[in-house]
Amino acid sequence: MKAEYADAVRIDATPQFWSKAHICSFDPEGPAMNNEKRIVLSSDHAAIDLRLAVAEHIIAQGWDVVDIGPTTPESTHYPVHGQAAAERVASGDCRLGIILCGTGQGIMMAANKVKGIRCGVCSDTFSARMIRQHNDSNMLSIGARVVGEGLALDIVDAFLGAEFEGGRHATRVDMIES
Ligand code: RB5
Repeated sequence: MKAEYADAVRIDATPQFWSKAHICSFDPEGPAMNNEKRIVLSSDHAAIDLRLAVAEHIIAQGWDVVDIGPTTPESTHYPVHGQAAAERVASGDCRLGIILCGTGQGIMMAANKVKGIRCGVCSDTFSARMIRQHNDSNMLSIGARVVGEGLALDIVDAFLGAEFEGGRHATRVDMIES
């Protein structure tokens, strides 16, 4: 783990999920339900470096990053991390989430099993913008073995910079949720 990263990001882990090496620090005041810029990040082992790059990138934009790991490189199971991140969003603890694995696909599938989560895998900025504007996606998934860091950060910017357009799209999102 990069030394400066540990200082910059609150690592907010659930002990049963992570190794002893993981740093745990919970907010004693509980979830910041009204923080519009609070976002959860997670990944599997295949995407730790890219996840850290995303964290640093969006912290610089003023996002309150809750990184739930993992921070150690051993092989792990993306469904655990996708579900854990999705629960942070579904509960209202975080408004949005960004998750990553090798392809972005497996962790996205796990996240979408959690009620209220609409997560898309994006390898281009157009899709990243559209999943917010049309699908009201509350989570973005990226494949660290698919896109390089520069494109990944542009994808993140497209996702975070877009707003849901509502209207006819709200009707369709409601159909997904019903
Ligand atoms: C891990 O090897 C890989 O299977 C995982 O990161 C992801 O690509 C699964 O969808």
